[in-house]
Amino acid sequence: MCGIFSVTGSHKKAGNKVLSGLKKLEYRGYDSWGIAVQTAKGVVVQKDTGKISEVHLDLPEGSKAIGHTRWATHGGVTKANSHPHRVGKVTLVHNGIFENYAEEKARLVDHNFQSDTDTEVIAVLLSQAIEEGLDIKSAIRFVTQKIQGRFSILVMIDDQPGIWAARKGSPLIVGRGENETFIASDIPAFLEQTNKVNYLDDDELVFVDQGTANFFDLNTGKAITKREITVSWKVEESKKGNYAHFMIKEIFDQKETIAKAINHDNQAIADFVKALKSSNGVYMVACGTANKACMVAEYFFAQISGRKVNVVSASEMPYFEQFVNDRTALVAVSQSGETADVLEILERGKKSGAKILAMTNVESSSIARLADVHLPIQAGPEKAVASTKATTAQIALLLLCAYADSSTVNDFEKCLNRGRNILRSTAGNINDLLNPRYESYVKAVAEKIVQHDNLFIIGRGALYPIALEAAIKIQEVSYIHAQGFPAGEIKHGPIALIEAGTPCLVLGNDTEIIANATELKSRGAMIIGIADKDHELFDEWLKAPNCEEGQAIATLIPVQILSYHLAILRGLNPDMPRNLAKSVTVK
Ligand code: G6P
Repeated sequence: MCGIFSVTGSHKKAGNKVLSGLKKLEYRGYDSWGIAVQTAKGVVVQKDTGKISEVHLDLPEGSKAIGHTRWATHGGVTKANSHPHRVGKVTLVHNGIFENYAEEKARLVDHNFQSDTDTEVIAVLLSQAIEEGLDIKSAIRFVTQKIQGRFSILVMIDDQPGIWAARKGSPLIVGRGENETFIASDIPAFLEQTNKVNYLDDDELVFVDQGTANFFDLNTGKAITKREITVSWKVEESKKGNYAHFMIKEIFDQKETIAKAINHDNQAIADFVKALKSSNGVYMVACGTANKACMVAEYFFAQISGRKVNVVSASEMPYFEQFVNDRTALVAVSQSGETADVLEILERGKKSGAKILAMTNVESSSIARLADVHLPIQAGPEKAVASTKATTAQIALLLLCAYADSSTVNDFEKCLNRGRNILRSTAGNINDLLNPRYESYVKAVAEKIVQHDNLFIIGRGALYPIALEAAIKIQEVSYIHAQGFPAGEIKHGPIALIEAGTPCLVLGNDTEIIANATELKSRGAMIIGIADKDHELFDEWLKAPNCEEGQAIATLIPVQILSYHLAILRGLNPDMPRNLAKSVTVK
């Protein structure tokens, strides 16, 4: 949620480098953008509303620059509200929320605010602290102490060398290039230049100038040493290649990601399962699509290892926290590993003594680093806002964990291999779907339903959460009102919404769900079956091969392709749905 990026180097191209790096962070927010360059004649700021990917500018020469791509939280989408904000000698960009900004702003009666943002308040406080005589480091420490909430900031001060950055809750990574240093919300911003990084942790401060970086504890001001890490991401993995959009590229990547899930490390899974087995109560916390993957896992654990796990949306977990103690296992599932609602639950859970187990796709994310046991999802960089390959990789990994959890003292490998065999055949079956012929078949079905404003999806068992996930996928990229239900529930309300021709996706073709589909059909619904075999009740059939417990994964593939084509047919960009962001680092 908001991408921030800075470059300082011995060259004069910092502005243009920030522009091209910000384009790689666009998935974090795309309603407005801004860049400030320190030139020989002073700081030049360019900013506007709209998408950074559509900006083609030659920025003035300068050896340092900071930039921002925005997902609005405070203040509407206007040029004045876009970052950077300049007050006195301070130029600042910000990711996160200054929760108590209104109280601080109320005290700043003499300042003529130019925007409605919480960020400008930070810039004013910083400018005042510097004017009152504090050195820059002390001023940043003084002001950040006042801020409640999760945030990260990048700061340039007129006529002073280098760039400063501070982190409390929102991600910041320092990239170490040849005579140049980058600071970004995420690695793709500078991956073309370097894969050597230092991760900033909470309550840390860094000063970078050309090729140097000095780290400090934000609370004490004392110098600290940070480890340099070489990341294994490849530049090509973050590119679209020959695909029109990241979403369809990532859907097709599932040919490899599910097969790769088979190779998860035995020891890591064993550690994960050991923590589950020694706990007295398991809560799985996640948001959005990751939460639906957890709901699928709830069925896996119940049916495969006989374990009851409690799946709670991270934002609702505060109402159950009285049950979290030193015998609890808190399991977080997150693509980004930065989702604020999840992080907060884990931080509080850790204080209560709970064991923190995490699955994240971004391996050095905040959630991964907080966890006692971390299982990397290993789906490779996911750029489209709508999660696809990370979701199926999460489900695959959770399936392995459920099989491992079914083991007793001596049969761990045997149980895990049962899970692996299911994934092996699922990966093979999925491979048969991910080809242009199947895609054009799904697209033809999309053409038949694209003009409808309402769509319903029903599923049973582990396919019920897949119905919920299908609804999210369709809503977020095509803006069609889509809702998922447990199939047996339709006659308790939703069936009143069915009119002649209303499209209904029916996930599966067993006797029970066909009975529910018949009830829909008798009210005029158009039935689109997603199942291993066609059925006379289906008006349209999308094949999802029989994959046993891998069925949740196999059923998602046609759903994802359908959502993508509904968006395309409606003239929308599926990679950047309105009002959404990929990484939700605010509550
Ligand atoms: C946002 C994204 C979703 C994602 C959710 C949770 O809403 O648009 O695709 O499922 O956040 O994100 P996480 O990174 O924790 O999986």
